Amino acid sequence: MSERQQFKGRSAFIFAAMGSAIGLGNIWRFPYVAYEGGGGAFIVPYLVALLTAGIPLLFMYYAIGHKYRGSAPLSFRRLSRGTEAIGWWQVGISFVIAVYYAVVIAWAVRYIGFSISQDWGEDPEGFFGGEFLQQSGDFSIGGGFVAGVFVPLLLIWLFTLIVLRMGIQSGIARLAQVFIPVLIVIFVIFVIQALRQPGALDGLNALFTPDWGALASSDVWVSAYGQIFFSLSIAFGIMITYAAHVKRRTNLTGSGLVVAFSNSGFEILAGIGVFAALGFMAHASGVPVGEVVESGIGLAFIAFPAIISTMPGGALLGVLFFASLVLAGITSLVSIVEVVIDAFEDKFNLGRTASVAVVGGLMAVVSLVLFPTTTGLNLLDIVDNFANNFGIVGAGLVSVITLGWGLRRLRDLSGHLNAISSFKLNWGWLVMLTVVTPIVLGFMFISEVVDRIQEGYGGMPSSYVGIFGWGVAIGLIVIAIILSFVPWPKGVVERERELLTTGGER
Ligand code: ALA
Repeated sequence: MSERQQFKGRSAFIFAAMGSAIGLGNIWRFPYVAYEGGGGAFIVPYLVALLTAGIPLLFMYYAIGHKYRGSAPLSFRRLSRGTEAIGWWQVGISFVIAVYYAVVIAWAVRYIGFSISQDWGEDPEGFFGGEFLQQSGDFSIGGGFVAGVFVPLLLIWLFTLIVLRMGIQSGIARLAQVFIPVLIVIFVIFVIQALRQPGALDGLNALFTPDWGALASSDVWVSAYGQIFFSLSIAFGIMITYAAHVKRRTNLTGSGLVVAFSNSGFEILAGIGVFAALGFMAHASGVPVGEVVESGIGLAFIAFPAIISTMPGGALLGVLFFASLVLAGITSLVSIVEVVIDAFEDKFNLGRTASVAVVGGLMAVVSLVLFPTTTGLNLLDIVDNFANNFGIVGAGLVSVITLGWGLRRLRDLSGHLNAISSFKLNWGWLVMLTVVTPIVLGFMFISEVVDRIQEGYGGMPSSYVGIFGWGVAIGLIVIAIILSFVPWPKGVVERERELLTTGGER
């Protein structure tokens, strides 16, 4: 097995972790989730989710990776033989998320150019699904290739794999050290530009006026936890993978707090920028802000183009917005793909070049075959929903129950972090992970299963939901269990013994 590379220092790790956390989810998902979840009142479930699950789980995964110094499956295996499949489950989730996440970045690349020429004319919605993505609306896979998505997607994958081949410090950390500051500068310009428009304040009022009644709805709480998980990149295996490359004596909890709060800060900034722009649109069309709000894909690729066409100097706003999506997205994509590459590197004793070429190459091929097609949008929609609501939530739930109740290893992990960190974990952390997080995640998981069984998903045919929703979600668990039975190379097992006798230190 190749020698494990390390981040050069704490700041390199913090940048890489921020790069992973700040992604598409912050820019296009948070503003809408916050608005739907009670506006200003959403700050309550959001902070509760951050403090009771987000940060505690972030620390737990840091501790696993840092103490056991391996990819997600290897770290879990070293922690306890029987838990390896949890690591592979997270690797599978990352595989699935990466193959469609890259596609959204590819769209954003094209929309940088479209913003200048405003190719969507009077009809951004028709342009997006029709002229640009050429969707047939069929619930199947395959169909014709869409060159306008294929080409940027290919470039995104090449770029990502080159960065990953350059390694942890020279590739991943350096990319984040350049992209994150640039992202912050252009995003701040975007927000200022949006705030200067007439109607911007109406948008902010719509976003921040608290609707306290919303807090009585369990959906709002569930969406706050979902947002925090996706946004902090928790339960994808990323934080285990990155922490395994951090030097032994590093203040991990302090670093985690910097990452978590800067991620939330960016998210709130995104809310301000996006709602200022929506406020302008509502003002220009003479309708309430609620009528111009769109969710997810619709927000970025339908509502924003309409704003760009209406606003004087809209092209600049569009370029800033879509460039932000690309920069934020790529540093997250790199982290998601790294989880998979690192895991196969460990398990099959591959060199870096081989694992990037074979494993990364396979992910690129899957992404390029399935998504830039006339049926890609429906597939992306369903896979995204199931990977998040069953994969991330399920893997998070199983990890906390296994570590907190099954193996009772949390005290041990907090001891590891406390020995090297400034912010000490105490009984509060244990209570969060053994009581609060399992209850909330258990509730989320069960209510999602019941909803999907009763309602299906998005009006899609049940055979399609069966294969690409349930099939993918359950398939990931089955594959994870199978992979956990594949034997490890000899060197890794010896290394495991050494780790145990030295108390987990390198
Ligand atoms: N944390 C990343 C995002 O928010 C995955 O998009």
